Amino acid sequence: MSEATRELSTTVNGAEVTMDVPVRMLLSDFLRHQVAQTGTHVGCEQGVCGACTVLVDGEAVRSCLMLAVQIDGRSVETVESLADEEGLSDFQQAMKDQHGLQCGFCTPGILMSVSGARRRGLSAETAETEVLGGHICRCTGYTSIRAAIRQAWEVGTE
Ligand code: FES
Ligand code: FES
Repeated sequence: MSEATRELSTTVNGAEVTMDVPVRMLLSDFLRHQVAQTGTHVGCEQGVCGACTVLVDGEAVRSCLMLAVQIDGRSVETVESLADEEGLSDFQQAMKDQHGLQCGFCTPGILMSVSGARRRGLSAETAETEVLGGHICRCTGYTSIRAAIRQAWEVGTE
């Protein structure tokens, strides 16, 4: 028996996408395998590690906990959206400056959660505690990531 599909119309990093997708396909799989936004990483697939975090209509979500069909008519931003022809976003630059990553597996999710928090006007303290608290990094020990958050809040927008 073939798997049920449904037409999905969405915007991914500013590009309109319309295609049939399996109704049970996860958003994380849609982003990685259907629209080639492989910067979205998949770790625990249980909503715990935060590696798969993307922004849906500006809100940080775990893409491993959403179905692709749930973004019908909505807008998704992944880590690929952060840098532009001008270069890295302020928080990306801060992560680089402060050595906020090692293997980088957790980094896309942190970049998206923190960028979303910055856009929503949350404080650096909230980003360092509550927002970063939703992400597991096995490499850096968080000190450098927290330093990057403080740097970004001092200099820029995202
Ligand atoms: Fe989604 Fe870990 S892979 S939270
Ligand atoms: Fe390796 Fe965070 S940089 S898991």
